[in-house]
Amino acid sequence: MQVVRTTEALRLALTGDGAPGSIGFVPTMGALHSGHLHLVEQSRSANDITVVSIFVNPSQFNNAQDLERYPRDEQRDVALLTDAGVDVVFVPNTAEMYPPGFSTWVTVEGLTNVLEGEFRPGHFRGVATVVTLLLQMVRPQRAYFGEKDWQQLLVVRRLARDLMLDVEIVGVPTVREPDGLAMSSRNERLDHSARRAAVVISQALAAAQAEYTAGERDHDALERKLHNTLAQEPALTTEYALITDANTLQAPASSNAPLRALIAAHIGGVRLIDNIPL
Ligand code: PAJ
Repeated sequence: MQVVRTTEALRLALTGDGAPGSIGFVPTMGALHSGHLHLVEQSRSANDITVVSIFVNPSQFNNAQDLERYPRDEQRDVALLTDAGVDVVFVPNTAEMYPPGFSTWVTVEGLTNVLEGEFRPGHFRGVATVVTLLLQMVRPQRAYFGEKDWQQLLVVRRLARDLMLDVEIVGVPTVREPDGLAMSSRNERLDHSARRAAVVISQALAAAQAEYTAGERDHDALERKLHNTLAQEPALTTEYALITDANTLQAPASSNAPLRALIAAHIGGVRLIDNIPL
């Protein structure tokens, strides 16, 4: 496995032996867990070469403290990716991604006004810009994104389509801990009691899903189920808990719209998000 830090070294690694065949790409911010490694497996099974990037992207953090506290452990990440059979790891520094004078930003309208976009102003401008840059640098046939960040997946699909980037965006279902908590690099920052309490997020999603499966179609009743379940855990502060049209992230316009339940909550000083299809 090659670890490269510059765009030039990346290009060399990907063109070194002539045509590299199909490239699968998994962008990450490191602090890797089984969720990330599942994306890597999907890429490995469908492509000749798998490239993973590790870059804690400052422009997508709307909160300086969150950026500072974001877990970083490159050595451990590189060891995990070596074991996972990755071909190239791209670890740029901030100046490599945002050289002096950088002034072009990618903004996806509409989709980014709600949910994460509402509570984390500027977040998706940072995500959309860095993902566009990374896709230009790696030029993969396929790029893999987790459903864990459902809104991000929709935003990336939209920008790839609108900018006519010639890449297939592959969505991968959320990998969970045995108790249901969605795997996240931020889980590392939960202390023992916050970790125990955090499970209520996936429990609330599962409860709404179960009601839907049992025939409940009333939007308010399903949202009430989310809130009532979350309220059972006093240590948790809910930012949003909503049932939306899975594709537009707006209130469902018709009774046969595909639905998604989405939650963001703070617990023990950590902000967690999760979602589930109904
Ligand atoms: P990061 O949070 O490191 O996540 C990298 C990828 O792993 C994302 O596509 C995310 O949805 C996916 N992922 C995270 N947890 C997962 C889980 N439990 N199951 C399945 N997939 C999971 O998302 C980002 O980084 C950044 O915004 C990035 C796209 C790299 C741009 O900076």
